[in-house]
Amino acid sequence: MKEEIVHEMFSENQVEERIVQMAEQINKEYEGKSLHMICILKGSVFFFTELAKRLTVPVTIDFMAASSYEDSTVSTGKLQMRKDLDEPIEGRHCLIVEDIVDTGRTLSMVKKMLLARNPASLKICSLLDKPSRREVEIETEYIGFEVPDQFVVGYGLDYAQKYRNLPYIGTLEFSK
Ligand code: IMP
Ligand code: MG
Repeated sequence: MKEEIVHEMFSENQVEERIVQMAEQINKEYEGKSLHMICILKGSVFFFTELAKRLTVPVTIDFMAASSYEDSTVSTGKLQMRKDLDEPIEGRHCLIVEDIVDTGRTLSMVKKMLLARNPASLKICSLLDKPSRREVEIETEYIGFEVPDQFVVGYGLDYAQKYRNLPYIGTLEFSK
């Protein structure tokens, strides 16, 4: 039977410390403004709430379910939109919160779609970045950690919907 083993890469403490730093940066850069945070379900939900709790600027939140992945470790290259935002974003300062930027396809499609709705501004905040896998150029304003070209799980990230609840981030190894 194929066994899955998770090797810790960033501990719960390391992730939390980094989120505190990111929140400080965002608080500074959005001083005097209200921030509309957009959570890309489901992967970014753990990161999203931890980040939101540490923001001191006025915050509103909304959720969107979009991905280019089907229960596998390979991108399908197509955007699946399963849930749109509840509220309009026109004239609002929006921050897309994502779990990981891999090929960049999901975020570039999401960004294009949201820009068409005329937000006052639209930035991207991702817990992880895997730059070696990029296929589409995408500007990211806030990144937690860069990771090598390995499949990672935990802190919201899944493999076939498993491991999202791990409090740390780890690499997934498949052994026989
Ligand atoms: P992209 O469109 O290739 O950038 O894919 C981004 C999405 O793929 C993320 O939101 C994740 O859901 C998923 N993904 C990419 N790499 C990983 C990984 O290493 N572990 C878990 N999910 C991943
Ligand atoms: Mg995702």
